[in-house]
Amino acid sequence: MRDVIIACDFPNAEETLRFLDKFKDEERKPFVKIGMELYYGAGNEIVRELKRRGHKIFLDLKLHDIPNTVKKAMRVLSALDVDMTNVHAGGGVAMMRAAIEGLTREDGSRPRLIAVTQLTSTSPETLKNELLIDTPMNDTIARYALNAREAGLDGVVCSPLEGALVKEACGPEFMTVTPGIRFADAKADDQCRVTTPARAREIGSDYIVVGRPITAAEDPVAAYRRCVAEFVGE
Ligand code: C5P
Repeated sequence: MRDVIIACDFPNAEETLRFLDKFKDEERKPFVKIGMELYYGAGNEIVRELKRRGHKIFLDLKLHDIPNTVKKAMRVLSALDVDMTNVHAGGGVAMMRAAIEGLTREDGSRPRLIAVTQLTSTSPETLKNELLIDTPMNDTIARYALNAREAGLDGVVCSPLEGALVKEACGPEFMTVTPGIRFADAKADDQCRVTTPARAREIGSDYIVVGRPITAAEDPVAAYRRCVAEFVGE
């Protein structure tokens, strides 16, 4: 099931569609991630359009609210028929259970649901001094992942470097979706802890989320194919 997810971090539908037009003749339709910027800018219409074009969609909205609100919001999102969406594990087990309930359709089907454990932008200092959490970062990540599994979620978003600890805590079937991917010969941009697609595969990531190495490449299709070759091995 390994796959490459392209982070479509564009401000509007036009730029997104112009970018994805480049992949029209690709045999493998890219799995795409729609994040807050594009969703807040282009709404449900861009989700439906990408669905019509045959893309699988990870709707990355990171919900975090009281259980009842999350459940109702997830009910709305489940009608959009995306393939994957997410919440913050920091909302707790009851909130994650409510999210699953809201996402599950009458026929029992639902999109995959994954949780953000700790944002990779949260440093150990922030955890301790601002959030007043004295537990070491990796222990909080393992516990949040276990909470997500207990609530019935399918996996977590985490850095590839944390993937092994999540698999160890939650088992090999529990999915890890990992951003922070860079080619060995490229710059890291603002990402601190990066990994190549090939290394992410070795570590056991199930999906890699790749933005700028593909979206800002001179030849995005070639960059996508390189990611697929390194990570999926086709
Ligand atoms: O351009 P780049 O490959 O860095 O994009 C990575 C994508 O993954 C972005 O959409 C970013 O918001 C997302 N992401 C991340 N780190 C996380 C969670 C999501 O980089 N912890």
